[in-house]
Amino acid sequence: MSHSGHHPSSGQAPQPQRRQVVMRGLQWLGAVMAAVFLYPLLRFTGHRIPPKPRLVEVPAPLPLSGVHTHHDFLLIKVEDASKAPLAVSRICTHLGCRVNFQQDRQLIECPCHQSRFTPGGERISGPAQRNLPTYEVSLKHDAEGRVSAYVVHL
Ligand code: FES
Repeated sequence: MSHSGHHPSSGQAPQPQRRQVVMRGLQWLGAVMAAVFLYPLLRFTGHRIPPKPRLVEVPAPLPLSGVHTHHDFLLIKVEDASKAPLAVSRICTHLGCRVNFQQDRQLIECPCHQSRFTPGGERISGPAQRNLPTYEVSLKHDAEGRVSAYVVHL
């Protein structure tokens, strides 16, 4: 009788509120955890799915011989100077030795078992049965519009 504010309902009122606060906190925590764990995972898988081509830049013009020898490819001049040169793989399709361009005979030859290929990479003779793979080449221009480099997409 002396305590007028002692209603049974006043003690229960804060409970649903407290539950809401806890729920909201858990949702937050869930979102933070998802961000912390999923973001690097997505980045990692996103990074792995499209393999980036390796770009190798060769400064223009090509040497007078018309062939630039890189560790992984031969960059060979084509008749039409306005077109990009050909990038031909140096890995022999027989057993994987590194092929070389033979200037005197104007063909590509493997030093291991003498497989021969045209400057475009087509098999001519030898134990190799397949052509040499070729790579896409794009041109890079300077401010005056001249070709300044060849970009090989490995
Ligand atoms: S590895 Fe080139 S011919 Fe055998």
